Amino acid sequence: MRPKRLEMLYRSLIKEHSQSPKNRGKLTDPDGEMELFNPSCGDLIQIQYHLKEDRIEEIVFEGQGCAISLASASLMTDLMQGKTVREALDLIDLFSELIQGNKSAESEVLGDAVFLEGVAKFPTRIRCANLSWSALEQALEEFKKGQGDESKDGK
Ligand code: FES
Repeated sequence: MRPKRLEMLYRSLIKEHSQSPKNRGKLTDPDGEMELFNPSCGDLIQIQYHLKEDRIEEIVFEGQGCAISLASASLMTDLMQGKTVREALDLIDLFSELIQGNKSAESEVLGDAVFLEGVAKFPTRIRCANLSWSALEQALEEFKKGQGDESKDGK
């Protein structure tokens, strides 16, 4: 895709998802949650999810942030619905590489979030884009640790 077209998609996605973010809200009795703030601005995002067996059945977010962080949280929560814990962690790694400019935007597995590749040009915004993804990563790592503890308890 031509750079100009990519830039337009990047801008329109951020505008659309920051003005009307998807999956914003709170869950009753979530299976996992995590709140993270961006130390450079103090903005905070909280994510919550329900799991069904090993799959993310529902995921939402709340919080305040700039247009990039809100758009990214909206795109991330959309993408993660129905993903297994392993798939979600792999996507988080891929997204992190992408917005740091270490991978090119070829991967269709990231859906529209792939267009946030444009953030790589603005290093101070990488944290904004990554905030909700890091929150989910930490929540899922906690979940995995808990599973490990349970299997130890069962021995
Ligand atoms: Fe605070 Fe982007 S400026 S999250």
